[in-house]
Amino acid sequence: MTDMDRFKECLDKLDPDSIVCVASTSSCFAPRTCDDLVGIAKECQTRNIPHVCNNAYGLQSTRCCHLINEAIRVGRLDAFVQSTDKNFQVPVGGAVVSSSSRSFVEEVGKSYVSLSISILDFEKVNLLKPTTLPHTDTRDELPCHHF
Ligand SMILES: Cc1ncc(COP(=O)(O)O)c(C=O)c1O
Repeated sequence: MTDMDRFKECLDKLDPDSIVCVASTSSCFAPRTCDDLVGIAKECQTRNIPHVCNNAYGLQSTRCCHLINEAIRVGRLDAFVQSTDKNFQVPVGGAVVSSSSRSFVEEVGKSYVSLSISILDFEKVNLLKPTTLPHTDTRDELPCHHF
């Protein structure tokens, strides 16, 4: 649960230029629930502050995917990051950095040895619906950007 009043109070006290980003979390262990991604995204847009969401388990959840879509639609959510082993059941740890901006993930890919995927590609491979990818080498099958 996000205390939006307290969150705004904290932001009011800071110079927006001194904030690298706001980090929200979609899914987490109970009793914590999903942050108010939409409220945070709106606030970040108004104040021109970058917003990154830890979507660790969230690709399997229609609720988290919906909230991420909404946050992007009505506010500012620059990137959302998901764990490979938690969502794709692959045996190696890793993260998929995603954004509604293809150029953003391309920039991330240049600065970090990773597999980056834009939201456009997610839609192509149907990852924004709760689904389990084949357990084979999915890297070769996905239209991803490899850096
Ligand atoms: C909420 C949350 N975020 C991020 C992580 C890190 O995930 P990973 O180590 O698979 O990247 C975990 C791991 O348990 C988690 O519970």
